[in-house]
Amino acid sequence: MKSEKEQQLIEQAYAEIEKYQDMVEKDYYRLHYHLMPPVGLMNDPNGLIHWNGVYHVFYQWMPFHTGHGAKFWGHYTSCDLVHWKQENIALAPSEWFDKNGCYSGSAIDNNGVLTLFYTGNVKDEHGNRQTYQCMAVSKNGIDFEKKGVVVTLPDGYTAHFRDPKVWKKGENWYMIVGAQSKSLDGLAVLFRSKNLFDWEHLGAIAGGNLNQLGDFGYMWECPDLFELDGQEVLLVCPQGLKAEGMKYHNVYQSGYFVGRLDYETAQFLHGPFTELDRGFEFYAPQTMLDAKGRRILIAWMGVPGQDEDKHPTIAHRWIHALTLPRELKLKNGKLYQTPVEELQMLRKDKIAYSNVTIANEEMMLEGISGDVIELNLENIRLLGGIMEIAIRNTARIIYNSGERVLTLERKSFANGLTEKRQCRLERLHSLHMFLDTSSIEVFVNEGEEVFTARFFPYKNNQTISFAANGHLVFDIQKWSL
Ligand code: FRU
Repeated sequence: MKSEKEQQLIEQAYAEIEKYQDMVEKDYYRLHYHLMPPVGLMNDPNGLIHWNGVYHVFYQWMPFHTGHGAKFWGHYTSCDLVHWKQENIALAPSEWFDKNGCYSGSAIDNNGVLTLFYTGNVKDEHGNRQTYQCMAVSKNGIDFEKKGVVVTLPDGYTAHFRDPKVWKKGENWYMIVGAQSKSLDGLAVLFRSKNLFDWEHLGAIAGGNLNQLGDFGYMWECPDLFELDGQEVLLVCPQGLKAEGMKYHNVYQSGYFVGRLDYETAQFLHGPFTELDRGFEFYAPQTMLDAKGRRILIAWMGVPGQDEDKHPTIAHRWIHALTLPRELKLKNGKLYQTPVEELQMLRKDKIAYSNVTIANEEMMLEGISGDVIELNLENIRLLGGIMEIAIRNTARIIYNSGERVLTLERKSFANGLTEKRQCRLERLHSLHMFLDTSSIEVFVNEGEEVFTARFFPYKNNQTISFAANGHLVFDIQKWSL
C-alpha cells in the first residue's frame, strides 16, 4: 500500500500530465522512437530489468517543472524494446527517508518479487543532505510498496552517497553505490547481503587515488558493475575531471573500467578509464541482462548542468530523453555498443545506393533526407582527404583521414555557435546513424565509438549532404522510422 502522502503526490503528478499534455504534444521536437517524460524533466534511467518477458525502464522524473528537484520514478514497459507503454508512477518522494527525491537505483527479481533499490534524498531544515538506500517491492511489477531504509551512510563518506545497483553472485547479493570520500575523491563502494535487508559494507573497490588511479574527480555517480565475456566492467560517472585533449569535454563524464573483481577480498584490479560516448549528451547509463543473454545499456541523453535551461523544448514544458537501447560486447578490452536488432522493426521505405562516389564535390542523394530516419553508410573508402556529412544544416560528421580524427559538430542550442566533440579513429569503415526530430546517435565502425547528441534543426530543413575533398566511395541505406 502507498501512504496517503504518496497517493497525493502521484495524483498531483497525473494532474500535471493532463494539464500540459496538449502543449507537450504540439512540440515538433518531441521524439518519435525514444523514451521521454510525459511532462517535466526526465533524467537517469533506473531499475532496468527484463522480468517475466517484459522490459522495465524506470526513470528519474520531475513532473512539476523542467528543472531538477524531488524526483519521482516514472515507469515504461515493453515486450520488444521498441514499443513502450507508460505505466503507473512507481515511486513518489513522500516519506521522511526520501522526501527530497526518490533518486536513482536499480531493480532485481527476488523470488518473483520485483524489488527496487533507490536512494532516498533528504535535506534537513538547514539544507544539509542526508542519504538513505531504500527498498520498494511489487508482486505485479506495476504497483510498488516502499519497505524503507536498508542501508544508512557508513563512516568515511560524505552524504554524496547514492545510486545503488544490485545484483546476485552465487549465494550473495551485492550492491555498488556511488560515493565521495571525506577527502573528496569519487568512489564506487561495495556491499554484500544474504537477505537484501542486512548489508555488510565491504568498502570502496575503485575510486580516485585507489588502484593506481590518481585524482579522478570529486564524486562518482551511477555505478554499474557486471560481468561480460569473463571480465568485470564497472561503469561510473565521475564528476570533476578536467578536459584533456579530445576527452572529457562535457560537464560530467561517463565511462568504464574493465578488470577482475575478487568477490572474497573485495579487490577490483582494473585498467584505465574509457569514455563510453563521444557526443554531447550522454550520462548515467545503466545496464540489464535480458533473457537472450544480452547486456543492454540505456543512458540519459542529457548531462546535469550542461545548458539544460537552454533546451528549446522547455517552451513546451518538457525536457530530455533516453538513448536507444544498445547491446554491449567486449572486444580486446573495449566496449562496443550497437543498437539492439529489434529496432529494425521500425524500418519503412528503404532507399539504397551502392558505390556512391564523391570526388572533390558536395552532393545530395535522391531520397536520402528526413527528420526521423535511420542511415547506414557501409564500406566507406576514403582515399585521402576529408569527408563530411551535413545533417539538416545543424550537425556535421567529419572524418579527416590524414589526422585520423572523427568529429561531430553542431550548432549550439545555447548560443548558436559551432561546437564539436572528437575522437581519434584509425580507420572509418561504417557510420550507422539514428536521427529523430531532435536527436542524433552515430554508431561508428559497428559500435567501436558512439556519438550521442541532441540537436534542434528547423522542421522544414530535412536535407542531408555529402562532401569530400579527396576520393570517397560508400554504400548507403536509408529507412524512414
Ligand atoms: C545523476 C544523478 C544521480 C541522482 C539522480 C537524481 O544524473 O545526479 O546521482 O541519483 O541524478 O535525479
